[in-house]
Amino acid sequence: MTRIGFAFNQKPDPAAFETSRRGAGASSSPAISHSESEPSPSIDEFAEWDSPETIDAVETALSAYGDVVRLEATADFPENLRAAHPDIVFNVAEGLNGRNRESHVPAICEFLGVPYTGSDPFTLTLCLDKARAKEALAFNQVPTPRFAVIRTVGQIKGALDRLRYPVFVKPVHEGSSKGITEANYCRTPTDLMVRASELLEEYTQPVLAEEFLPGAEFTCGILGNGAKARVLPLVAINFGALPEGAVPIYGFEAKWIWDVPENPLEIFECPARIDLPLQRWIERVTLDAYNVTGCRDWARIDVRIDSAGVPNVIEINPLPGILPNPEENSCLPKAARAAGIGYDELIQSCLIAAAERYGLTLRRRPQLVTA
Ligand SMILES: Nc1ncnc2c1ncn2[C@@H]1O[C@H](COP(=O)(O)OP(=O)(O)OP(=O)(O)O)[C@@H](O)[C@H]1O
Ligand SMILES: [Mg+2]
Repeated sequence: MTRIGFAFNQKPDPAAFETSRRGAGASSSPAISHSESEPSPSIDEFAEWDSPETIDAVETALSAYGDVVRLEATADFPENLRAAHPDIVFNVAEGLNGRNRESHVPAICEFLGVPYTGSDPFTLTLCLDKARAKEALAFNQVPTPRFAVIRTVGQIKGALDRLRYPVFVKPVHEGSSKGITEANYCRTPTDLMVRASELLEEYTQPVLAEEFLPGAEFTCGILGNGAKARVLPLVAINFGALPEGAVPIYGFEAKWIWDVPENPLEIFECPARIDLPLQRWIERVTLDAYNVTGCRDWARIDVRIDSAGVPNVIEINPLPGILPNPEENSCLPKAARAAGIGYDELIQSCLIAAAERYGLTLRRRPQLVTA
């Protein structure tokens, strides 16, 4: 039977997190080892980590193809990986520290010669730096909004005149809309000056300033590699669902404030109802972005239409969100469902695509037949 290592970061339990922060002022879960001198992390830092429900659901899906060994991406991950001897690691670990955080688990797997699912360290780091990823896209003629990178307050002035307004600003290597609120929509150079200064201070990382694209937005799931890579049914973002007068973005407010389980925001339309030529164009641009950045097995790519009607790539997520509960509106599982691919099959497709790359044969566990 295949041995499948499963690498993940589990979100700390919010209650335990607060107690431990108040008590020790440092480490907050077994997954996190901060020294006393390091600033203690806030719960937001774990927004991208997975819940126990997601981890259980992925494990269940994987177990159809082998014995699953959980390998939480904690400080003892390298030893645990070595001891576990998996044939392949299924990786969804988002990592904790720094701009290479998503690459840590795959790099350790490579170092130990263990096959793993998903993109490699280079691609994960590239895509986590939105500006570097855009350089790769632009150089390869994949449309992406015009932009400037602001590293210091002194550089804001230089960016002011180079871009057409409105301009949208965001921290260069965050996800899940951390630091992306309505205030990031800058109508004037003064707005840009104010918000870019705030972001530089708050996130201590460069700020990406991009021309704001006014058109429709889509998020596009991809499964597979090479000629077998396919774009799943497109998910359109329905800005009409936002409160009256809201800036048409799918940012922090829409993801974390306005969308609550008691009153879900009807923000997604899947499959997107658009004409076939536009759909094909978006699929082409999505696949080009996937290939140019070296994504593997799966990804989710955000695309928005510019003022000339051209689909532009906004962002590439090589470690896509995979919440199992349909009510939680996770876009890759949603797109897969629209293609008739259930949750287990989605997880298994990523595993199978990776195994194929390594020439590893996977056998499905015989299913129990009940009378
Ligand atoms: N140049 C732009 N023009 C128009 N809207 C933009 C632009 N850049 C970002 N946005 C809006 O802000 C949202 C969040 O931006 P982005 O996708 O880069 O952030 P993210 O937090 O990394 O997203 P995710 O949660 O998908 O990881 C986009 O979905 C889009 O609505
Ligand atoms: Mg996004």
